[in-house]
Amino acid sequence: MTLATHHSLLAARAAVLGHPISHSLSPALHGYWLKRHGINGSYEAIETPAEALAETLKKLADAGYRGVNLTVPLKEAVMPLLDEIDPIAQQIGAVNTVVFAKGKMTGYNTDAYGFIQNLQSSHHPIIPSSAFIFGAGGAARAILAGLIEAGVEKIMICNRNKERAEELANLFSRHSRAGGNLEMDVCEWDRHQTHLPHYSLIINTTSLGMKNQFPLEVDFSNYPPETLVTDIVYNPLETPFLRNAQAANLPTVDGLGMLLYQGQKAFEYFFGILPEVTEALRLNLLKPNN
Ligand code: ATR
Repeated sequence: MTLATHHSLLAARAAVLGHPISHSLSPALHGYWLKRHGINGSYEAIETPAEALAETLKKLADAGYRGVNLTVPLKEAVMPLLDEIDPIAQQIGAVNTVVFAKGKMTGYNTDAYGFIQNLQSSHHPIIPSSAFIFGAGGAARAILAGLIEAGVEKIMICNRNKERAEELANLFSRHSRAGGNLEMDVCEWDRHQTHLPHYSLIINTTSLGMKNQFPLEVDFSNYPPETLVTDIVYNPLETPFLRNAQAANLPTVDGLGMLLYQGQKAFEYFFGILPEVTEALRLNLLKPNN
């Protein structure tokens, strides 16, 4: 057997690294698609503290893995260890997907894609032209990159720690593709209610509303009826924030889709197929044993 045929018979392997990692839905997600597409492969979760990252990456690359996904606290820590970094990941300042190919490690970030694709696939093919973002952490950064790439021209960032919002606004004003057309602002946390009705897309990127956390309470009465409201929290799927928007008859998109679509793009990087995100997949992932 030649080396090439031997290689093609090997299982295609990938993994998610993080610390802690046991609650990750990624093995169930990629496992579902591997099976669905009849790929001889595997996708596992590997507990990896930051200090073990360099060694783990090398070990997996040497063992012939296609690549890895990264989660907390490794998305930034991995950057100096890579040979190449895709421009979107560079702009976000975080990598969630590393591909091992031709002796090189290349970093990508599929979170911005995941966010935009989730909205577009949830009956909102046209991204609204203005957006209000609650939060200024890592998730907000990826979402901002996605919004700017999608052509959103007016953005307000509202964060409990206003300095973080200002840092983010400055960073993206400098890097903006839209150049002079982008209007970026920040507001005081307790002044959000005044500004919100002027934006057609409202996004929660904070951890408020997560299981065992305080809710993000917003009063959505008297907003333009097409105002689209979305949350990146997916446990629970229906957060108090989304419930309030629904009570005011506003369209909403839940947070599970962002996870599914960031995984869709990562799967394509690893296994060469863009898998489908379906209702059956969503139901499968929501089963209590996942
Ligand atoms: P991630 O990478 O998931 O975005 P992060 O960087 O820790 O995580 O950011 C968490 C976000 O949730 C931040 O915007 C944080 O606000 P601060 O920057 O002021 O800390 C926000 N957040 C967390 N708990 C909050 C709370 N109780 N009230 C308001 N905002 C909160």
